[in-house]
Amino acid sequence: MNILITGGAGYIGSHMARMLSKYDHSVEVIDSMENGHRSALPVKVVITVANISDKKALDTIFSATPIDAVIHFAGYINVEESVRDPYKYFSNNVLNSMNLLEVMEAHGVNKIIFSSTAAIYGTPQTEKLAENHSKLPTSPYGLSKWNFEELLRYFDQKGTIRSISLRYFNAAGASLDGENGEDHAPESHIIPLALKTASGKQKEFYLFGTQYPTRDGSCIRDYIHVEDLCRAHLLMLEALAAGHGTDAYNVGTGDGVSNREVVGVVKKVTGVDFSVVESDPRPGDPHTLVADVTRLQSEFGWKPIHSDIKSIVESAWKWTSGHPNGYEDRH
Ligand SMILES: NC(=O)c1ccc[n+]([C@@H]2O[C@H](COP(=O)([O-])OP(=O)(O)OC[C@H]3O[C@@H](n4cnc5c(N)ncnc54)[C@H](O)[C@@H]3O)[C@@H](O)[C@H]2O)c1
Repeated sequence: MNILITGGAGYIGSHMARMLSKYDHSVEVIDSMENGHRSALPVKVVITVANISDKKALDTIFSATPIDAVIHFAGYINVEESVRDPYKYFSNNVLNSMNLLEVMEAHGVNKIIFSSTAAIYGTPQTEKLAENHSKLPTSPYGLSKWNFEELLRYFDQKGTIRSISLRYFNAAGASLDGENGEDHAPESHIIPLALKTASGKQKEFYLFGTQYPTRDGSCIRDYIHVEDLCRAHLLMLEALAAGHGTDAYNVGTGDGVSNREVVGVVKKVTGVDFSVVESDPRPGDPHTLVADVTRLQSEFGWKPIHSDIKSIVESAWKWTSGHPNGYEDRH
């Protein structure tokens, strides 16, 4: 298939591009490079450096190659920043993304996989979050993703675009060969931050929130290895190609790991006992987010393979030790 990946030079998008290339799909990327890295992508992948708000750029891509499906990763991802600057999040994650849908429609491209998030659910009312859990996001980031999921359902109703929204829990880890990993600036994710502290790039590790009603007072999250996550996208591409209707699925493991436990595993894997500063909770952070993944597993036979926390941290450590400054290209 010919696949267009938006945000393909970012963390998850670049893993996806590599996986698709391995399976002999033809891959094109559009990325503004605001947070992307050229060297995260295989050399043979064609990249258009442009914003998805740029209709002309999208038009050129869709006119040049018959695109079978789009995987839409482009967006802003920082929960805390979204609380400070909701406009930034709605204009990119909703408006710019809608622009993409309009151009897809104009070119008759009728399949999209959308990067949604566990942040759409808000404070959990049940131990695990199933897809039909109420949607009361506690941050503009979560709301922007939920709004776009809802928009996608209207495009389906119009009969122009079928979509599968994948609601990622915490994407983590690096490619098993250690060549492709997470390099956000600024970094807001716990594992790369803890690893930076272990490798001496950062002096102290900040543990945000220690008084939550959880087993050890810290936040609980469900970590999914980036390769397992990308494998779920491959299955969704096949499903959409086979006529699957618009839907949404959680992607996680169903197991919660607390922030304190993550720190413990990072210390063990790296062998470094770094200093941890207990800090206030971050705004917009629910205390627990654990997926119910029954639907993805039973309907598609998908299972996480690399997503136990030790394997995730080991793969991320391999990437971090081999790339102490991340991608050297800084875009
Ligand atoms: N990382 C996670 O744990 C996680 C969890 C849930 C959902 N998600 C979603 O997955 C997607 C990818 O996340 P990531 O961690 O790879 O983020 P990332 O920031 O590494 O990648 C996003 C990429 O999109 C590009 N981009 C942003 N806005 C753009 C625009 N308007 N036009 C073109 N390119 C644009 C950036 O330059 C970047 O390369 C995001 O949509 C995010 O909301 C991520």
